[in-house]
Amino acid sequence: MQYKELFGLNTSDSLFEENADSPLFQNLRDFINLRQLYDAGIREVRTKLEILDEEFQVRYDHNPIHHMETRLKTPRSIIEKLKRRDLPVTLDSMRENILDIAGIRVICYYIDDIYRMAELLITQDDITPIRTRNYIAHPKANGYRSLHLVVSVPVFLAERREMVPVEVQIRTIAMDFWASLDHEMRYKKEDDVPPALRDELRDCAEAAAALDVRMQEIHQKLLEKDQQPPATHIIN
Ligand code: GTP
Ligand code: MG
Repeated sequence: MQYKELFGLNTSDSLFEENADSPLFQNLRDFINLRQLYDAGIREVRTKLEILDEEFQVRYDHNPIHHMETRLKTPRSIIEKLKRRDLPVTLDSMRENILDIAGIRVICYYIDDIYRMAELLITQDDITPIRTRNYIAHPKANGYRSLHLVVSVPVFLAERREMVPVEVQIRTIAMDFWASLDHEMRYKKEDDVPPALRDELRDCAEAAAALDVRMQEIHQKLLEKDQQPPATHIIN
């Protein structure tokens, strides 16, 4: 039935049963409109980043962005997150408290590209920075690295303008490699991982971070080499 498709839940699902009276389900139309709004927010931010990436390609012959991934948080995750935080399961509460309904992950080539893209994005006139968490300068205890931003972006509808929060996670290919495998193995299962393996995973994160620094240095040296006048080959 309709609910099942829209919410990824079925009516025998306990999450549905427990929340059947919740305003999220009662105001189905509002909820769908909201999801459309968040989806539009993702596309606005994505386009901004694509334009910056193309400009860098034309001006500097370098694409900062390797690729991007986007996702809309599922209704199930929204409800679970509200409940986990003991917050009311309502549309207002969702809009106010869940800042990662719209998510975009930006995978860059080099560490410098991350900061460049982040700064160029948050300084745009119509973007309002809401939150920055720099897990590159301050990695999580498990070794996780990425720059997380929440920005608010205007979406223009027929009769009004809505500001929509979008979570932007910016990381290098190496950070993404580590985070993807970490996620696959154990994200949010902290307690199940024996301390020795936890240490080993953190070591891997540090090895990946060291690689990022080396690759960045090689790239920098290549750039400097290009900028030097060509060798004259007078002395062979
Ligand atoms: P959430 O409730 O998970 O959204 O946490 P939060 O609001 O405290 O945000 P946080 O800054 O921890 O970032 C959350 C997001 O970053 C997650 O949804 C993941 O995509 C990513 N993330 C954070 N920590 C880790 C980690 O240790 N491993 C991996 N693989 N991803 C992580
Ligand atoms: Mg999240």
